[in-house]
Amino acid sequence: MKPTERRSFIKKLAIGTSAAVIGAKVQAQDITPSEMEGPYYPITPLDDKDADLTRVKGKSGVAKGEIIEVFGQVLDQNLNPIEGVTVDLWQANTYGKYHHPHDPNPKPIDENFQPWAILKSGSKGDYKIKTIMPGLYPIEGTDMIRTAHIHFKISKNGYKSLLTQMYFPNHPANADDPLILERTEKETALMTAKKLKDSPEGIPQYQFNFIIQKI
Ligand SMILES: [Fe+2]
Repeated sequence: MKPTERRSFIKKLAIGTSAAVIGAKVQAQDITPSEMEGPYYPITPLDDKDADLTRVKGKSGVAKGEIIEVFGQVLDQNLNPIEGVTVDLWQANTYGKYHHPHDPNPKPIDENFQPWAILKSGSKGDYKIKTIMPGLYPIEGTDMIRTAHIHFKISKNGYKSLLTQMYFPNHPANADDPLILERTEKETALMTAKKLKDSPEGIPQYQFNFIIQKI
């Protein structure tokens, strides 16, 4: 290759590279897949809907089950954090029982478990909860079992509301969960938290970001 040809080749290469980098920067991220609300969105009023689900205001006990922390950010499709998003979440207790009058599961209610929380994302789009690993439960009238999951409603004016369910990586019940079985691998990955190392207090930590769409 002559020097002039080489310069031209390098120039083309450089243009190609920078275009690819710009392309990567503007590429919109996949939004978090939505999932059905399910029948157990809480209907019983609850005074305590803070970020610590392992304790209930006015009670001295601690929720039964494996205590975990789940945290992350609410982001738009360009990965900009979104402040002031309502993060509304609910889940089954360690026995797989919802604190809901229509839940037919005969398992006990845990009076020290706060089954519902409503939070606002912080200035970095951040949220964090302390909770317990949700229990498994049978789907009424079937022999199917729901794997561990947390239900989330994510909403803010100017954005499309997101209703979804978050899964835990490598949970043994994921493989037979009827809702996961309907998903593509990519969708399941977008709905599954990442396991991080334990907190300094030895609490297992999971990270999960929500990607929502501007209207
Ligand atoms: Fe559920």
